[in-house]
Amino acid sequence: MPFTGQIVLVTGASRGIGAAIATHFAAKGATVIGTATTESGAESISAQFKDNNTLGRGICLDVTDVAARQQVFDTIATDYGYPSILINNAGITRDNLFLRMKEDEWLDVINTNLNALYHLTKLVIKPMLKVRYGRIINIASVVGVTGNPGQVNYVAAKAGMIGFTKALALEIAARNITVNAIAPGFIETDMTNHLTEAQAQTVIAKIPIDRLGVPADIAHAALFLASKDSSYITGQTLHVNGGMYLG
Ligand code: NAI
Repeated sequence: MPFTGQIVLVTGASRGIGAAIATHFAAKGATVIGTATTESGAESISAQFKDNNTLGRGICLDVTDVAARQQVFDTIATDYGYPSILINNAGITRDNLFLRMKEDEWLDVINTNLNALYHLTKLVIKPMLKVRYGRIINIASVVGVTGNPGQVNYVAAKAGMIGFTKALALEIAARNITVNAIAPGFIETDMTNHLTEAQAQTVIAKIPIDRLGVPADIAHAALFLASKDSSYITGQTLHVNGGMYLG
């Protein structure tokens, strides 16, 4: 099993892309800590790992909560050891045209998608530097590269994640720690399930592979970037979008 003995922290693992990433790593032997925003969400992650006979558990965490971040990290360190793989996946949208966008819509998105990336990476980085090994994978978005009307907040956060990925990768490359981003295209999850059938067909018409993505498509990319085989890849943004944008 390629990830046996490795501890993987996946934020926002209760559903969608994060859930797929968590189950795929667990199926490959990793001990996975998947975060959810509620205790019941954390319990259902734990139950799923148990049912699948895989290692790890769910843990409750709001990534914007300063005290909770430290507490969860300390709990993981005590119970399992330090994560060697961090998947910064938790994210939200609060779409609005810029002229109507309220400050709280701006701040919620920046805090959840971008500021949490800074804080969580700060927590894992020192132990990674000490053992001279680590994999940090940031779930960005194709719109962080292309832009998207109605999403100034989200696009700024995702573009920020891509910039963060490049700069940190350069700082720690010599320590055998890689930092990469994945930019999903249009993936079927709760974040995107508001589309009518007609709207979905319009989106699919722009995707050369002729289907929406599924969370497993992103999980497979994360497994690759976290593997030992990708040790010469850092600072990159891997586009997983069925060809709708070629970076
Ligand atoms: P989702 O809405 O199904 O899942 C988001 C996850 O983040 C949930 O587990 C939620 O509980 C968690 N989360 C939200 N706020 C949180 C907070 N404050 N603290 C901790 N966890 C929090 O969405 P999906 O699609 O699975 O998104 C996962 C990531 O992929 C996000 O970063 C999103 O921006 C990104 N993405 C998704 C795309 C899509 O088409 N679905 C496209 C491009 C990027």
